[in-house]
Amino acid sequence: MVTKKIIIASDHAGYNLKKIIGDEMSKSGHKVLDIGTNNLDPVDYPDFGHLAAKEYLKGTANFGIIFCGSGLGISMAANKHNGIRAALCYDIETAKLARSHNDANFLALGGRVIEVDLAKKCVNAFINTPFDGGRHLNRVKKIDLMKIERFE
Ligand code: RB5
Repeated sequence: MVTKKIIIASDHAGYNLKKIIGDEMSKSGHKVLDIGTNNLDPVDYPDFGHLAAKEYLKGTANFGIIFCGSGLGISMAANKHNGIRAALCYDIETAKLARSHNDANFLALGGRVIEVDLAKKCVNAFINTPFDGGRHLNRVKKIDLMKIERFE
């Protein structure tokens, strides 16, 4: 198994699932950097989406895995950062496609909407699926270019 460095972050609603997934990945030998939140006290998911994105953009981690209640809000926050491609996934197929077609570097999961076993399978599918490149490469490049050329 190739060891990965993975950043994890959540709000209070994603905290329990983050803990389970983080522990599981550490046990499997991955290097896990948990940047919070650290308990169930209510916090704002954008704060942790932004923190995870900033940490990832330092360039030392392979992936980020982020959690909130639905996975929606924290992925929206992370995706505001150029260079982050956060994919909200809800089954193994979307987790694989997020990597193989979209070269997603962040997986978002909803702690209140996904079963733990399925979440674990999504994580494994995500971190072990390579980007297909080829015809997808230019499309992925256009995600970042869009901000520069089309909307500014
Ligand atoms: C928190 O109640 C909840 O709104 C949040 O975790 C997330 O689901 C937002 O998208």
